[in-house]
Amino acid sequence: MEVIVVYGTEHKGSTYNIVQLFLEELLVTKENITEFFLPKDMPNFCCGCTSCFGKGEEFCPHYEKVQPIKMAMEKADLIILASPVYVWHVTGQMKVLLDHFGFQFMVHRPNKAMFSKTALVITTAAGGGMKSAIKDMTMSLTHWGVGKIFTYGKAVAASDWQGVNNKKKKQIKQDVNKLSVKIKKRYKYITPSFKVKALFFVMRFIQMRFHFNPTDKKYWEQQGWLGKQRPW
Ligand SMILES: Cc1cc2nc3c(=O)[nH]c(=O)nc-3n(C[C@H](O)[C@H](O)[C@H](O)COP(=O)(O)O)c2cc1C
Repeated sequence: MEVIVVYGTEHKGSTYNIVQLFLEELLVTKENITEFFLPKDMPNFCCGCTSCFGKGEEFCPHYEKVQPIKMAMEKADLIILASPVYVWHVTGQMKVLLDHFGFQFMVHRPNKAMFSKTALVITTAAGGGMKSAIKDMTMSLTHWGVGKIFTYGKAVAASDWQGVNNKKKKQIKQDVNKLSVKIKKRYKYITPSFKVKALFFVMRFIQMRFHFNPTDKKYWEQQGWLGKQRPW
């Protein structure tokens, strides 16, 4: 299994350690893991030029940083997005990365490769905010067309991994074990969820009916999606 992990922090704390537990349980070998740490690997804020929407993603002034992450996602069987909860949401740096992938939202130019992908969204908090942080990440993944999304959120009652008590660590290991079994069983046989397919057909209708963005429209035509072709 090929895996990309995008960490919404450079802090190797609870979130990082839970990701490592998943990678062990999923039996992923080191050479099949590509990791990106934010903000180190994508330090730029979106400047709002909208070149990615209007001209193409390669015109983004930060494309050099975005492209390796895009390519690793395309190659991977499993996309892991992992972020601690900061003030009830993902970290600012994770949000900044997701902003740079707005061009591949279903309403613009969804990437065909995403429809057969599995994703795993991981978050930890001291006490609360996991639900909204998970939603921050699943919202993008769904709009990218990712076929199947698993989630794991945990209140660890600590500010780093050393502070997490043994009872909680044991519970986390059991949860990781259970979820990993499901992922291993499913990841080779992904067809997109009903929600993803429904989104695709709504956006297809919009592309056929309206002419908001010629770059998007041309892309949909080239893919054959306005005819009989489908991305799954
Ligand atoms: C800036 C900041 C904001 C935080 N906001 C929340 C929060 O809204 N809710 C919460 O329960 N914990 C919050 N925390 C605690 C972290 O989410 C928690 O300790 C998490 O497990 C840290 O993950 P890490 O060890 O991977 O860095 C915050 C921590 C920081 C540094």
